[in-house]
Amino acid sequence: MTKLWGGRFTKQTDKLVEEFTASISFDKILANEDIEGSLAHVKMLSSCDIISKKDAQTIMDGLMAIQLKIQNDEVEFSVEHEDVHMNIEKLLIDEIGPVGGKLHTGRSRNDQVATDMHLYLRKQTKSMIELISEVQKAIIEQAKKNIHTIIPGYTHLQRAQPVSFAHHLLAYFWMLERDKERLQDSIKRINWSPLGAGALAGTTFPIDRQQTAELLGFTKVYPNSMDAVSDRDFIVEFLSHASLIMTHISRLAEELVIWSSQEFQFIELDDAFCTGSSIMPQKKNPDVPELLRAKTGRVYGNLIGLLTVLKGLPLAYNKDMQEDKEGMFDTVATLDGSLRLLAPMIETMTVNQDKMYAAVSQDFSNATDIADYLVTKGLPFRQAHEIIGKIVLFAINQKKYLLGISLEDYQQFSPLFEEDIYEILQPKNVVGTRNSEGGTGFNQVKIQLAYAEQLV
Ligand code: ARG
Repeated sequence: MTKLWGGRFTKQTDKLVEEFTASISFDKILANEDIEGSLAHVKMLSSCDIISKKDAQTIMDGLMAIQLKIQNDEVEFSVEHEDVHMNIEKLLIDEIGPVGGKLHTGRSRNDQVATDMHLYLRKQTKSMIELISEVQKAIIEQAKKNIHTIIPGYTHLQRAQPVSFAHHLLAYFWMLERDKERLQDSIKRINWSPLGAGALAGTTFPIDRQQTAELLGFTKVYPNSMDAVSDRDFIVEFLSHASLIMTHISRLAEELVIWSSQEFQFIELDDAFCTGSSIMPQKKNPDVPELLRAKTGRVYGNLIGLLTVLKGLPLAYNKDMQEDKEGMFDTVATLDGSLRLLAPMIETMTVNQDKMYAAVSQDFSNATDIADYLVTKGLPFRQAHEIIGKIVLFAINQKKYLLGISLEDYQQFSPLFEEDIYEILQPKNVVGTRNSEGGTGFNQVKIQLAYAEQLV
């Protein structure tokens, strides 16, 4: 089959080379963006009198007919035509005849592919922002039901201080909020238009790059044609933001796995989000959070993969850049799938408030509060810390918790202790009194919730 670029060649392309260099098997996903970019280009060519209005109309009609056929799965893309750009151009020429060959005037596949990627990633970035909002809404819903649910708060995965479960969940809300902000900010740069940069140096035709940029909803044109065709920063940025989102998702996933274990039993994931074992009938496995945790790996891999492809590439376009696609598509699919699962999984999980409360009633996570108690009675914190450390040791030896020690015993350690200590040690007071801004005190959590609700 003759190639669109076959003029200077005397031999057929080797079959293996054809398959090795072709990208149609994966870049066909860009077909819509490719046609959108071409429609803008051809409109501009005609308004700048580079091609006639009549030819432009024929080409636009042809492109739209092809778009419809692609939507209805009526076209066959071929490896002989290498990539989505040349496949569509070939389909156009088959559809409307040689006039279709005018479409590529003043354009190269290099600015064309970059344009497609900008359009694709803008759409996907917006969709990710919406999906993150859905997860945030699910977090808010669970948080609302659990303002007064008390759970051990950990540092070093050792019981530290009890917290409101809503507070713990909302920590993830803010991670995701920053993720959304980063994605939103990246749209500024995704919105630079490479179209009209040509192969690398611009074109001899009197094109209007501002016009195509505007038609495609871009806010700025790349000021340098060489940068325009060789920039893949916007993809690296997306992969990097996606990596951080997956980091956040995997941290939450890990907590869900731990919390749903027999040892913790803090939550139970809905049956619809778990799977069984082929041998052990009793098993209910948290496969979904486990996979969320694991899929983080491929997203990081895609980021490192692209950075490595770009590293040391001379200007301007190099075929290496074709390798920007599969990792990006895979990241989009992974992130999309992960976010779509996370929201309903959080929404449907059962929170075992009793188990959580039982946990905080059987630990020393109220120790800081008696230290603070002595401080309010005038003792320097460091001295109070020392005394409470001794009391904890005493309690451990007595196989008791702090609420189980008698006032007489407390007073052995310090005469400052009085009956009110038992009220202060109650988990609800330990949490409730942490009323500093952004703290876990119930009032603070309510303020935080109200703020979070305004953002989704
Ligand atoms: N399929 C190519 C890619 O994805 C399109 C650009 C090809 N340009 C070229 N000069 N060979 O990068």
